[in-house]
Amino acid sequence: MKRGILLFSLLLLCFPALAVKTVDVSLKRGQLLLTKRHEGWGKSRCQACHVLNMIHQDAPRIRGIVRKKGFKTCGGCHGDNGTDTRRRCLICHNDRDLPAAPWQTGIHTHDFDRLEDRPLTDGDCLACHHASDMDGEWELDVDLTRFPDAAGFSGPYRHESEFCLTCHNRTHQQPGFEMRGRDYRDPLIAIEDAWRHIDMHGRRAGSGRRTYAGLREPYRYGSVLRCTDCHAMHGTDNPKLILDDSRKSVFLLPFRDQGIGVEIFGIGDYSQLCVLCHQMTVPVEDGLIDTGNGLYGVHEVGADCTLCHTHGRAAQVGL
Ligand code: HEC
Ligand code: HEC
Ligand code: HEC
Ligand code: HEC
Ligand code: HEC
Ligand code: HEC
Ligand code: HEC
Ligand code: HEC
Repeated sequence: MKRGILLFSLLLLCFPALAVKTVDVSLKRGQLLLTKRHEGWGKSRCQACHVLNMIHQDAPRIRGIVRKKGFKTCGGCHGDNGTDTRRRCLICHNDRDLPAAPWQTGIHTHDFDRLEDRPLTDGDCLACHHASDMDGEWELDVDLTRFPDAAGFSGPYRHESEFCLTCHNRTHQQPGFEMRGRDYRDPLIAIEDAWRHIDMHGRRAGSGRRTYAGLREPYRYGSVLRCTDCHAMHGTDNPKLILDDSRKSVFLLPFRDQGIGVEIFGIGDYSQLCVLCHQMTVPVEDGLIDTGNGLYGVHEVGADCTLCHTHGRAAQVGL
């Protein structure tokens, strides 16, 4: 014990920089949340000590909007500062101020209740983005909440779908976000197993040698998709959170910015979804029929795809 203190004092003598107050908040380290080390910890009136015009000289992306929206925003990025300050998100992330970050149109959202349809609240945003650094760059480990996996280990994520699977599984759901499937094979809880062992868009690799083969580049065989390539978290008019506009998902599609629409017909005609990435190299059967959004290249256009293509189905190549 004594020895430890002695060693520390010696260190301070040699490296005086160690004695300087540690800075917690830094964009470089992707850390914006205040801790107890903050001089003003436990105080909720930030304006008592900080001047709006002076702060954020090194954070040009957010400087303007924070100035415009004022002190109500502080908790959103810097945390509750040990008070009961509400952490607000929608004050900036709304269709007037930041309409495309993220796109939030549509009646269905990931509101943590399959039977409900309501707009997202600040609390929903926080559940998935506990400590985003808001630098305009998507970083898995900074921008998504780190939930423990099956082994109780919290990140780093190797792939975005791992984030979804920390909740969507049968055996290690997160407290406060429990869910029960309609049955054992409901993707809500079965997707972890399906994704790792059965699904073509998950760990199992496609052959690229099938009758209707062909992908729009840079999508390629042998790769793993993000769940959000097909499912839109922040708002869509399609059931099961399937995207309704290419700008919300299909992240690699070269022409996603054109806002290609996706409509689902009947119970399971997903042709406008699949055709975003799939286009037969050698068109056979319906291969040249417009699915209705201007794109073609899939078979069975107009049919119920789920008869043969759903999560967790091994027969008929599945999904
Ligand atoms: C009693 C005065 C006081 C209050 C109230 C206060 N702060 Fe501070 N804050 C300070 C001082 C002093 C520093 C350190 C000097 C500096 O960086 O300006 C600081 C630093 C910070 C930093 C940088 C921390 C770091 O690790 O570099 C942030 C961010 C911050 N404050 C945000 C807030 C927010 C948000 C609130 C309101 C919830 C708040 N402060 C309320 C005094 C205060
Ligand atoms: C949209 C996110 C965001 C919001 C909202 C926000 N900040 Fe910050 N703040 C940052 C970032 C990013 C940095 C770090 C910049 C860096 O790395 O130097 C920062 C740094 C700071 C610092 C440290 C020194 C400096 O001036 O850069 C203070 C103090 C601070 N913020 C206070 C506040 C206060 C007070 C509010 C509410 C009016 C607020 N912040 C709202 C993102 C935000
Ligand atoms: C913190 C836990 C949690 C995380 C993380 C999470 N979900 Fe969910 N998800 C839920 C809960 C809870 C429900 C609602 C379950 C219910 O109604 O029984 C749900 C519902 C869904 C639904 C059905 C929604 C509907 O309206 O039909 C889909 C699809 C979905 N999640 C996909 C995802 C995807 C994709 C990700 C990752 C990007 C993800 N979820 C991340 C907890 C989570
Ligand atoms: C179920 C988890 C979940 C919820 C709830 C959620 N997000 Fe996200 N968010 C994600 C995932 C996963 C991504 C990365 C994929 C994507 O861009 O859709 C993301 C991406 C983003 C991005 C960056 C990409 C872009 O489109 O600019 C922003 C900004 C964002 N979310 C803000 C929010 C806000 C604000 C809320 C609340 C209104 C919210 N999110 C609610 C999971 C979620
Ligand atoms: C003062 C306005 C403001 C507030 C409040 C705010 N954000 Fe942001 N946020 C931004 C801006 C600006 C960006 C950067 C957009 C860009 O440049 O693409 C951003 C980016 C993001 C991103 C994308 C990832 C990244 O690193 O850029 C996520 C996720 C996000 N915010 C979530 C949230 C959540 C969750 C809250 C509430 C806890 C919140 N934001 C509160 C302004 C805000
Ligand atoms: C976001 C792009 C994207 C969308 C949307 C998409 N796919 Fe795929 N699909 C891929 C990629 C990439 C692969 C290759 C995956 C691999 O090899 O592991 C693939 C592989 C497949 C395979 C396996 C092919 C083989 O060679 O074994 C089938 C079957 C398939 N997709 C069906 C569908 C169906 C049905 C839909 C619509 C419900 C759909 N896909 C939507 C990108 C997509
Ligand atoms: C290639 C596109 C694609 C990808 C990638 C994808 N899904 Fe799906 N997902 C679908 C389609 C299409 C359906 C509807 C199929 C059906 O009705 O049987 C669906 C259904 C679901 C459902 C059931 C929703 C409900 O309300 O019944 C959940 C939950 C779900 N997916 C979660 C996920 C998760 C988690 C991931 C990533 C691990 C993922 N999905 C990846 C296309 C995809
Ligand atoms: C009767 C069952 C059945 C139905 C219904 C069905 N498919 Fe398929 N699909 C298959 C089979 C089987 C294959 C694999 C063919 C092979 O192995 O050569 C396949 C392959 C595919 C592929 C993979 C192409 C590749 O990359 O190899 C896509 C995309 C696809 N189907 C889309 C759809 C769409 C979109 C629908 C609904 C509009 C649909 N399918 C309906 C049985 C079906």
